[in-house]
Amino acid sequence: MKLLVTGGAGFIGSNFIHHILKTYPQYKIVTLDKLTYAGNLDNLSDIEPANNYQFVKGDICDLKLVEEIVSGGIDAILNFAAETHVDRSLYDPKCFVQTNITGTQVLLEAVLKYKVKRFIQISTDEVYGSIEQGKFFTEESLLLPNSPYSASKAGADLLVRSYFKTFKLPVLITRSSNNYGPYQFPEKLIPLFITNALEDRELPLYGDGLYIRDWIYVEDNCKGIDLVLHKGKEGEIYNLGGGAEKTNLEITNFILNYLGKPESLIKHVKDRPAHDRRYAMDCIKAEKELNFRPKVKLEEGLKKTVEWYLNNKEWWKKVKSGEYLKYYENHYLKREKV
Ligand code: NAD
Ligand code: TYD
Repeated sequence: MKLLVTGGAGFIGSNFIHHILKTYPQYKIVTLDKLTYAGNLDNLSDIEPANNYQFVKGDICDLKLVEEIVSGGIDAILNFAAETHVDRSLYDPKCFVQTNITGTQVLLEAVLKYKVKRFIQISTDEVYGSIEQGKFFTEESLLLPNSPYSASKAGADLLVRSYFKTFKLPVLITRSSNNYGPYQFPEKLIPLFITNALEDRELPLYGDGLYIRDWIYVEDNCKGIDLVLHKGKEGEIYNLGGGAEKTNLEITNFILNYLGKPESLIKHVKDRPAHDRRYAMDCIKAEKELNFRPKVKLEEGLKKTVEWYLNNKEWWKKVKSGEYLKYYENHYLKREKV
């Protein structure tokens, strides 16, 4: 099987490529990645020499390039490429619409033209919006996104659906909860707080810190996507959650305790606008139909993640000294303390 993995130099994409090449050494992978600030070839350096792996630098919005790759014979496309950070989507929504919606449409056109046998859209629980305690979103729930990021992902999901309905394309969608693990760019909560704590910098906790996310270890999400790729039903959506709801404050305290750092590093800052209070999904469909069951417990996954950042200081120090630093200084350090 030959896969086109878009966004393969990012966090989940690179973990997915590692997972596939380990599980199916006979598969071939082409990855197409624009190498934005979030794309990092260091994430793939160990597999670069493999002769069943090829990297192409480019944009998923570039139809000519996408067609060139797909016409070479691709059995399935997995679309991980996206602008992914909610906070950035508040400052610069345009590129979210461009990559997340237009880019997805370009890939769908290539699937249609070259009769690709499977297209997996990697989506998110954020398309459903926020949900009160005790309730859970199913795949049938309304899409009520609240940030430009989640709205662009919801737009892409609807386009994918339309290509299924209109052109009978063999498409599937996964919606996972918040991922964490190795190679996550240190702008997202867990890697930002681990690396800031290691540098004795403040941890900017938004609002009261009692916002709830369901956390899935990235390896479990990759296994779920693998199941959807091989066993999922065309036209279907699969929720892939970790079954581990925690407040941001609980996550923060775990990191600080594990690293033996003081709680005084926590800085309560002004809240993110339209901040979703809670994400939670019902994942019974993936469990029943695909036998999807996340294996890594939150505490174990968090320990593994903290250890990874402890053992890979060079990786994140390099990332944090690049374009990221300018962004961090312009936006994060200017947040008002509350
Ligand atoms: P990431 O930001 O770490 O990586 C995104 C990758 O896409 C980068 O390598 C970047 O260079 C590439 N990219 C961006 N624009 C591109 C373009 N126009 N053309 C080609 N490549 C481009 O993201 P991630 O956290 O790995 O997320 C991967 C996917 O999973 C995204 O679609 C995201 O919406 C979805 N998702 C993420 C999470 C999470 O917790 N991280 C949860 C649910 C769903
Ligand atoms: P994030 O990792 O940005 O993922 P998402 O917004 O897609 O869920 O944020 C996770 C939670 O952590 C979210 O409730 C916002 C909060 N958060 C902070 O409190 N401080 C921060 O510096 C960041 C990045 C996030």
